[in-house]
Parts: sequence; C-alpha cells; structure tokens
Amino acid sequence: MIKVRTGTFSRILSVGAYQPSRLVLNSEIVDRIDSSDEWIRQRTGIESRRYAGEDESILDMAEAACRQAVERANLSMSDIDTVILATISFPDQTPSAATALIARLGNPKAAAFDISAACAGFCYGVGMASDFIRSGTSRHVLVVGVEKLSDFTDPDDRATAFIFADGAGAVVIGPSEEPEIGPTVWGSDADSRDAILMEPSWREIGSGASDANWPTLTQQGQTVFRWAVFSVSKVGKEILEASGVTADQLDAFIPHQANVRIIESMAREIGIPEKVFIAEDIRTAGNTSAASIPLAMASLLEEHPQLHGGLALLIGYDAGLVYAGQVVKLPPAPFKALA
Ligand SMILES: CC(C)(COP(=O)(O)OP(=O)(O)OC[C@H]1O[C@@H](n2cnc3c(N)ncnc32)[C@H](O)[C@@H]1OP(=O)(O)O)[C@@H](O)C(=O)NCCC(=O)NCCS
Repeated sequence: MIKVRTGTFSRILSVGAYQPSRLVLNSEIVDRIDSSDEWIRQRTGIESRRYAGEDESILDMAEAACRQAVERANLSMSDIDTVILATISFPDQTPSAATALIARLGNPKAAAFDISAACAGFCYGVGMASDFIRSGTSRHVLVVGVEKLSDFTDPDDRATAFIFADGAGAVVIGPSEEPEIGPTVWGSDADSRDAILMEPSWREIGSGASDANWPTLTQQGQTVFRWAVFSVSKVGKEILEASGVTADQLDAFIPHQANVRIIESMAREIGIPEKVFIAEDIRTAGNTSAASIPLAMASLLEEHPQLHGGLALLIGYDAGLVYAGQVVKLPPAPFKALA
C-alpha cells in the first residue's frame, strides 16, 4: 500500500501587487497607429497603463509583489515551500523564472516552476496551489503572475499596441479550516491556437528565416472577443455551479482584464447582479496577461476594503486558447502592527 499525505482545505491568505512607475497615456501611443485616445477608451476602456523601465525585469516586479504578499500574510519567506510563477514574457526558456525568483527571495530550496497559460496562468496556478495544499504536497504556496509585455509589443501594430502592459501580482495560498477556494474549471480551445500568437518564433529568428530579431504579440481581436463573451461566459456559469455558489451570493467578479466591453458583456451573460463589484482595473493598468487578475484583485480590495473576506468569481482566458477559473474567498484585510 502506498502511503499518501492528506491535506486540509485551502484559502488565499493575502495578495500583493507591483506596478511600475512609468505611466503611459493613450496619447503616447496613438500617433504611430493612427488612432485616438477616444477610440481606445471607447473600444477597450483603457485610459492609461504602466510600462516597466528598461532595466526593470520580470524578476524585479515579481519579487516586489511576492514580498508584499508574504508580509501581508504575516509569514516569513521560509514558510513558503512552493512557488508557481505564471508568465509569457520571461525571455529565457530555462532555468525557470521561478527558480531565479526564489534565489532572490532568499528561499532557494522551495519547489519552483513556471507555467505558460497566458492570461489564464494565474487561475491555473491558484487551482494547482489549492490542490497541492489539499493533498498535503505543499503547505504555503506563492502564486505570482508577472509580465513585461511592453518587451513583446510592436508599437506600430494597430491591433495590439494600445492593449498590453507590465506588472506583477501575487497571492499566498495556505491551509484553512473551511473550504475557501472552490474547484477549478479549466480547459482549452486549441483549434483557435492562431488567434493570439507571439511571432516569429525563436526558431525562425535563429534560423534566419525571419528578418525580425525579436518576437511580438499578434492577435485576431474579433475572434478573441467573440470567444471570450460566448464561450468563456459559459465557463463562468460552470464555475459557479461547481462551487455551489449562485451569482447572487458573489461580492465581486474579477475576470481577466482584456477589454471593458468583454468584462461587461461577460458579466451580463453570466447573470452577475448589479450589486456585485466588477473589477475594471484595465482602465488604468491595461492588459497585463498573467498579472491582470491579482493586480485587479489588489486594486479592488484597496478601493473597497469591505470586500476583504467576500466571495469572488475569478476567470482567466487567452492565448492557447485556454481558460481557468474558480470561486474564492478574498483574503482578509492585512494585519497592521501598531506603530
Ligand atoms: C482589439 C479590439 C479592441 C479591436 O476592436 P474592434 O472593434 O474589433 O476593431 P476592428 O478591428 O473590427 O475595427 C473596427 C474599426 O476600427 C478601426 N481600427 C482598428 N484598430 C484601430 C485602432 N487601433 N485605432 C483606431 N481605429 C482602429 C478599423 O479600421 C475599423 O474601422 P472601419 O469600421 O472604418 O473599417 C477588439 O477586437 C478586442 O478588444 N478584442 C479582444 C482582444 C483581447 O482581448 N485580446 C487579448 C488577449 S487577452
């Protein structure tokens, strides 16, 4: 008989966020793509976004978000036994960004790996972290979504130049007496793999088959839009059903921040009532792919502290095409030591 460890329920203990200081307004982007501030606001909701500085790396941003999350969880770094890092913009294939991160965090013995599930990466990570804790594989897991998409954005591409941005968001997931993270509903629509691509591939660049020396993101905007609203909204309903939670019981809806029109259409399709707070962090953060949900969670909690401990529906979706989501209890307000 094989001996197995048994775990406990899981919960989000804290959230940390990092946004670079460089504010990029639509006005900085529009001339090169023959666009306007008004068009970008109307079609996407984006008013501004943040770009990392030239010397500011994926690791710098991830480290800042992780340190804040661990501090807010009242833990020390050595309590973290597993680190899951979701990104599509760390340029080195191996060793992973996660191992570079744990070395910086002074916790170089933790289990650490990267996941590539684009804007669903954070929810993929939350699902795995929760299952690791429930099975006894891990006790405290850091899940960090981080992107420096400005490195992979073509400023002359009319379809993407105004969308993508940089940042990092992290949560600490740990044991709980009550179930505070519901089942993950996840999957793919790989027949539409071409809808969002990073191209040319490193292989084409290396072989000289392409004139480019660096890949950038391309997308079929309308295909992604329709898929998100019609297919991913159905996933939203499945997540609620799997968790035994009705839309009426939610306090917040925190979907991937791709486009305000997608967020609002999705909320309508899922039947999210008006009283539920809907994260629209994209307005000032842009689309930060794997970082977008934890960043949106952090800013929603900052703006509406009463949501700490409330129930939220998370749902990520994007390149692959892939999706994942779960109902979670939002973390409690961070404990502040008296001065
Ligand atoms: C990208 C997106 C904003 C484009 O909006 P859209 O309404 O689909 O735009 P279209 O490509 O159909 O173009 C509509 C019109 O706007 C114009 N247009 C396209 N891009 C433009 C731009 N950057 N600035 C100004 N006008 C633009 C087109 O020329 C077209 O003009 P016409 O009607 O005179 O022919 C939208 O498709 C979208 O958000 N899709 C989802 C993207 C997404 O979520 N991707 C992320 C990965 S998670």
